[in-house]
Amino acid sequence: MAQDREEHGQYPPLDRVPQHVGIIMDGNGRWARERGLPRAAGHRAGTENLRVVLRAAVEFGVPVLTIYAFSTENWGRPEGEVSALLAILERVLDRELAELHAEGVQLRHVGHLERIPSRLQEKVLYAVDLTQDNDQLILNVAFDYGGRTELVDAVRRIIKDGIPADQVDEDTISRYVYTAGLPDPDLIIRTSGEMRVSNFLIWQGAYAELYVTSTYWPDFDKQAFYEALGDYGQRDRRFGLVSR
Ligand code: FPP
Repeated sequence: MAQDREEHGQYPPLDRVPQHVGIIMDGNGRWARERGLPRAAGHRAGTENLRVVLRAAVEFGVPVLTIYAFSTENWGRPEGEVSALLAILERVLDRELAELHAEGVQLRHVGHLERIPSRLQEKVLYAVDLTQDNDQLILNVAFDYGGRTELVDAVRRIIKDGIPADQVDEDTISRYVYTAGLPDPDLIIRTSGEMRVSNFLIWQGAYAELYVTSTYWPDFDKQAFYEALGDYGQRDRRFGLVSR
């Protein structure tokens, strides 16, 4: 593969490109600990790495990316770490929004907003509004996101909308989850080795291919992303059917 790259001066085209990739960006804490740094430094390094993977997603033709930045369970982390993650989100919005916008990234938020400081809520809504017509990459930022909460929210809204029980089917639920209108993830990548889904896109990811690598998120570079996409291209997706 490296030799191909040298010959072509770029990454060879992929056989099959997933239309939506979810990423569980795990391992920031361990990355920091191995360097004798505070956990927040790992999150900052992970944020730097996001830039690399976003650019790679555009280059490789992935149209939708969902990143798991902060789960509903993450509120239980030490206060200093929660503050650091909120501060990172704010800094990304303050310092990176113009560039993301110029690069054609459409930012969306999936999850709850009301538990984050109101100033930050406004910045998120502003970013979503500003970038809504961009078409290079849809970036869903899952922040205060939990898959079970998402399903509870969907059921509540279905009931509120007065949809009769016998008319609720899988399409109905898909129309009421936060990612309504987007394709389900074809591929979910988890860095740092843990073999679990951790409440991420549990409805949408029912048939997603899982790719787990031991690499910590801050080290998951363009080459690593390309390898994950290449691995996906080799998978035999059956959706409960038999191989062709
Ligand atoms: C998991 O690693 C990672 C997180 C809980 C946060 C991920 C967040 C970022 C990369 C930055 C956020 C980006 C935006 C846009 C807000 P961990 O801390 O659980 O790692 P560990 O398992 O090694 O401790």
